Amino acid sequence: MAIMTDQTATRAAPIACPQPKDWIRAIHAYVPGKSAGLDGQPLIKLSANENPLGTSGAAVEARAQVANTALYPDPDSKDLRAALAALHGLDPARIVMGTGSDELLHIAAQAYAGVGDEVLFVRYGFSVYPIAARRCGATPVEAPDCDYGTDVDALLAAVTERTRVVFLANPNNPTGSYIGRSELARLHAGLRPDVLLVVDQAYAEYVAEKDDDGALDLARSAANVLVTRTFSKIYGLAGERIGWATGPVAVIDMLNRIRGPFNVSLTGQAMGLAAVQDQAFVQASAAHNRAERARFVAALEQLGNHGLRPLPSQANFVLIEFSGALTAEAAYLGLMDAGYITRWLPGQGLPQCLRITIGTPEQMDAIATALRAMAQSTR
Ligand SMILES: Cc1ncc(COP(=O)(O)O)c(C=O)c1O
Repeated sequence: MAIMTDQTATRAAPIACPQPKDWIRAIHAYVPGKSAGLDGQPLIKLSANENPLGTSGAAVEARAQVANTALYPDPDSKDLRAALAALHGLDPARIVMGTGSDELLHIAAQAYAGVGDEVLFVRYGFSVYPIAARRCGATPVEAPDCDYGTDVDALLAAVTERTRVVFLANPNNPTGSYIGRSELARLHAGLRPDVLLVVDQAYAEYVAEKDDDGALDLARSAANVLVTRTFSKIYGLAGERIGWATGPVAVIDMLNRIRGPFNVSLTGQAMGLAAVQDQAFVQASAAHNRAERARFVAALEQLGNHGLRPLPSQANFVLIEFSGALTAEAAYLGLMDAGYITRWLPGQGLPQCLRITIGTPEQMDAIATALRAMAQSTR
């Protein structure tokens, strides 16, 4: 005779609904740049670092030529990868495409880190990094910054035997800070060879050629460097969600195994290809950004006695620190009243800062004028 036991007394109470993993529950969702005010009214958007010149005309034309969207796109984005390889002197076999560079940042963490591992980045780094770390069960680790910028020594000091991936946005979002070739080489040289260094170059095309950080050279030669790039910024194709990465064959192979199979759409591939072939648009966008950023920073520097400090930026935005009577929050609200939505960053530990995308000359004049008026009238 089998002895019956009261199993309900010893078993845990049944769970009433699906339970997410603890590490997924710990994620705070990414907060995108807003496009409307508190009342829902659309505002001029300088909150997401998009290109104020729009998109290359050749890319817009290419979209019109896409004939049959009932068909799947090329799963390997072959033509687009070949064009990128030709432009940057890379091996197309060492390029993987993504649904934005966002997909690539996530799958790089997923491929090389997991439960018990650490993913390292600098404080005030891009806000996707902690999400990418947590998504695969790894622990996000922040190294101290140096006046909002990347501190290579602090990053290296924060490496432990559990570190598997280091993310570095260069230029960084939201700070605009940048490290040059020798600092990047020093960071790479100080990492163990089994740590993957992901250099996120979403804003690289805004950096003057002479200041190139050498990340693509490292990705060509080192066994542990991956560089990610995007069409969302200077190419003006944020809406199409196209990114790419290059690195060692072994790393690209891993990313190809886990990326979405048709991750760049038919229109995205066509527009991306035309955009790569229209470097005149890229150069015009870079020149526009350089001139307008310099003008805007000069206007902000005149407000230094009111506690406004523009941080040095190599990107298409400027982060302003507010330490006087006019707070970043008040400036954010005041700019909304003036018709502009910018990026106030309390959620990223930067309640004292506003990030403003470089827009058209008229927009930058209006922003500078509004900030001056607010600073002068706040005591
Ligand atoms: C530093 C950095 N990396 C990556 C991205 C992701 O861009 P996307 O997914 O549009 O390529 C952004 C977007 O703002 C960014 O600022």
